[in-house]
Amino acid sequence: MSANYVVTGASGVLGAALAVRLNESGLVPKGLGRKPKPPGFVGHWLQCDLTDAASVESCLADADVVVHCASSPLEPEKDRITMRNLIAVARRTRCHIVYVSICSMESAAPYNDYYKSKLSDERDLELSGISYGIVRIAQFHPFVSRLLSHLVVGPIILAPKLQFQPIDVAFAAEVLCKFAMDRKEGRSPDVHGPQSFTQRELIHAWLRGNRMKKIVLPFPRIGKLKQLGRIEPVEGLSGGRTWQQWLREEEGSPSPYTW
Ligand SMILES: NC(=O)c1ccc[n+]([C@@H]2O[C@H](COP(=O)([O-])OP(=O)(O)OC[C@H]3O[C@@H](n4cnc5c(N)ncnc54)[C@H](OP(=O)(O)O)[C@@H]3O)[C@@H](O)[C@H]2O)c1
Repeated sequence: MSANYVVTGASGVLGAALAVRLNESGLVPKGLGRKPKPPGFVGHWLQCDLTDAASVESCLADADVVVHCASSPLEPEKDRITMRNLIAVARRTRCHIVYVSICSMESAAPYNDYYKSKLSDERDLELSGISYGIVRIAQFHPFVSRLLSHLVVGPIILAPKLQFQPIDVAFAAEVLCKFAMDRKEGRSPDVHGPQSFTQRELIHAWLRGNRMKKIVLPFPRIGKLKQLGRIEPVEGLSGGRTWQQWLREEEGSPSPYTW
């Protein structure tokens, strides 16, 4: 009998890509999210708010592996409740939890509650005694694109100092799928895109991809930009489309992010 996989956040960017990948690998994962089943999702859907302990308990009762892609960056305290609920269920059912995290958070965490909460989630898992894996991934292409769109102010694009290794979501899902299917324990190597870009390189490629002309204005890392400026390049597993390839093939399509 094949194992029961549940993908939390399966309506989101990574969760949806992972569900497709698991299906292609011959598994039929159940998707989980707060809203009803999204159109096009293949397989069973669990409507569940992960902050509700009783609902988590009943929805995950027969799960063998839970790949946790759900997240609420604007409400990190809710993500912390979710992690406690997942660990409590795993203690009872002995399911394996795969947690998706973010590369290079340590130096950014002092400036950002979301990164702090993700580091705490990782620590909770490490101390939990349950079977778990952690996969840290660099910034997704559509995330970086959305971020840059917010830096446009009229004829100007603000250019705070930063360095990203943007990653193709399909590649991230491929690595995550393999890690989850192997039920690897502990931290995987960090997963990132094939190139590391400074803010100027990122922005110039993005402007070209969007056929936009803007004045690129160096800008101090203040407010929310402070944390992003602290993200440092990592060395681990890399692959997938480059930033330029992704811009050529996908830019112009609506952003999956609503922030
Ligand atoms: N974005 C990036 O660049 C990036 C980079 C590295 C790692 N990551 C990590 O990858 C994971 C997925 O990120 P993403 O960008 O794919 O996220 P996303 O597109 O924003 O999707 C998050 C999903 O979580 C679900 N969700 C949120 N709160 C929930 C709750 N209480 N109960 C059930 N479902 C809940 C949402 O669905 P409903 O609203 O329908 O519930 C949504 O589908 C996160 O852990 C993130 O930290 C992201």
